[in-house]
Amino acid sequence: MIELEQAGVTAYAPAQPEERGSGGHEQVVTLLHPTTCTLAERRIAVIGANGSGKSTLARLINGLALPSSGRVLVDGADTATDGAAVRRRVGFVFTDPDAQLVMPTPVEDVALSLRRLGLDRAARTARARQVLARFGLAERAELPVSALSGGQKQLLALAGVLATEPAVLVCDEPTTLLDLRWRRVVDDLLDGLPQQVLLVTHDLEAAARADRVLVVDQAQVVHDGDPEQAVALYRDLMASGATTG
Ligand SMILES: Nc1ncnc2c1ncn2[C@@H]1O[C@H](COP(=O)(O)OP(=O)(O)O)[C@@H](O)[C@H]1O
Ligand SMILES: [Mg+2]
Repeated sequence: MIELEQAGVTAYAPAQPEERGSGGHEQVVTLLHPTTCTLAERRIAVIGANGSGKSTLARLINGLALPSSGRVLVDGADTATDGAAVRRRVGFVFTDPDAQLVMPTPVEDVALSLRRLGLDRAARTARARQVLARFGLAERAELPVSALSGGQKQLLALAGVLATEPAVLVCDEPTTLLDLRWRRVVDDLLDGLPQQVLLVTHDLEAAARADRVLVVDQAQVVHDGDPEQAVALYRDLMASGATTG
């Protein structure tokens, strides 16, 4: 279970160019206003305009971002004081798999994420091959990662994260860079996972399939609940042009 208790995020932004010459100061900007919610549903989607604060919200959940006020708990573990426990429970998938894939080949990349399970090298490699087979990447285990397509790379990034069997998966626009065919592959995979999934997405069909949808606008959760209403509100916000970013 994910709990946000008045969790807010602020950051320091440089002074505006016109202020610099006149001794302008850094400004505190609000990336997410204090937010309280308990997320227990299996499928949760987060939608909102570019720059509205979706990634900030997603990153709070695995401790990639820490709250400036309030707190965030995952199964009771506080992201600020028990980050290691939180990261064991929460896997995070980025939009761009290149941000996630660090090893030269798929088998090495998945084996790397298995390191914290305490297996020896041979066991890690064997397990990595099993994981790759599960994701349809067995034949590409030894290829250079750079030779994979964008869709295959995203599948590999997902395989690496899921290899350690996190209880929760947070995906920050995992299909935004993919063509329609790969989007479907990744959507189907996410739909079929036993894990709790929090999906940040611009794909309103995917959002509509969720159990619960949060709409973020101007650093605030402005809707939390029914998917259909959420999508309708988001469309209204986009049509009115009253957005950030
Ligand atoms: N470290 C930071 N300092 C200042 N502003 C930031 C920082 N990180 C993000 N922002 C700004 O905060 C807003 C929300 O960012 P983000 O959560 O990434 O939005 P989204 O994922 O919805 O596009 C954006 O306007 C972004 O430029
Ligand atoms: Mg984002």
